[in-house]
Amino acid sequence: MNKDLKSLLKSAKLLFIGGKGGVGKTTLASASAIWAAEHGRKTLIISTDPAHSLGDSLDQKLPQGETTQVENVINLFALEINPKINLEEYQSAMNVNPLDSMPFGDSLPFMEDIGSFASMNPPGIDEAMAFGKVLEFIETESDFDLVVFDTAPTGHTLRLLSLPDLLSGWIGKLISLRLKLGKVFGMFKKMFSKTEVKEEDPFEMFKKLKNSIVNAKDELKDPSKTSFIVVMISEAMALYETERLLRGLYQYEIPVSNIIINQLFPESVDCKFCQSRRNMQMKNLKEIRYIYEEDFNLIEIPLFDNEIKGYEQLKKLSKYLFQ
Ligand SMILES: Nc1ncnc2c1ncn2[C@@H]1O[C@H](COP(=O)(O)OP(=O)(O)OP(=O)(O)O)[C@@H](O)[C@H]1O
Ligand SMILES: [Mg+2]
Repeated sequence: MNKDLKSLLKSAKLLFIGGKGGVGKTTLASASAIWAAEHGRKTLIISTDPAHSLGDSLDQKLPQGETTQVENVINLFALEINPKINLEEYQSAMNVNPLDSMPFGDSLPFMEDIGSFASMNPPGIDEAMAFGKVLEFIETESDFDLVVFDTAPTGHTLRLLSLPDLLSGWIGKLISLRLKLGKVFGMFKKMFSKTEVKEEDPFEMFKKLKNSIVNAKDELKDPSKTSFIVVMISEAMALYETERLLRGLYQYEIPVSNIIINQLFPESVDCKFCQSRRNMQMKNLKEIRYIYEEDFNLIEIPLFDNEIKGYEQLKKLSKYLFQ
């Protein structure tokens, strides 16, 4: 597998950029998205982190929840997901609360299902909305060749990627509940045959949703379409977190190809403090190379002496991405 970043940006459909908090995910996602867009791919960069900073990185106001053309880059669009707006959108589109119409009673035959259904943790709304965007992109005839997901720190992102399994389990329960309910409805129908029982079926919708999720799972696992790029810094703590993230990604079978080691101190002669930090980083870097070199494409990025913000700086950064 081991595809380098350049060929991924030219060929993948979905790229996720993830890692520990503050390591440079948003910055590297922006630089990568600019490169892809300038190489002819219509690209959308989406921030799934509820604490957005994509607009700051691109140095441009991004009205939340709106896909916005990025200034200076013809083929690039950016979107910060606003969980609140999206939730309202989804609720009005669904226009139904499937639990409202269920005749819950102590002795009904499907009580045990309701129990097991309720015990399954519903996803956090941020993650659900972010996943909704993943589904939307996979399911609908998309305008974009590539979608780059600037993800939230590790824990949140792993929850996001666990959603296909969680949701299909959840919807599976709803469907089986519907089948049992169907029998109860049938019984009622017979008992009160003169009463018209309206056979509306919101569960058809759930069946469809389940199919979309199964499709999405396949796409997320397909290395020709999807890749996860892990960003880390050269510190022991970051190594542990990277291991945790990689284990999670392996569990969900998400292809990982590249690991970016960011913010490496440059060699310096005149600063003792910098030299000592560099020594610490080099020691960890040796270990990182030893552990990951064989399975992943490693990219090393220096620490800049200024903040990386806006088009010019991001372009400067992207040169290092492909060295
Ligand atoms: N190689 C680098 N050299 C100098 N500054 C950098 C470098 N990479 C990132 N930064 C700076 O570090 C800060 C954090 O970067 P960024 O916002 O991309 O991290 P993040 O991983 O997305 O953070 P969060 O977890 O909060 O979303 C920013 O101010 C960015 O400009
Ligand atoms: Mg970020």
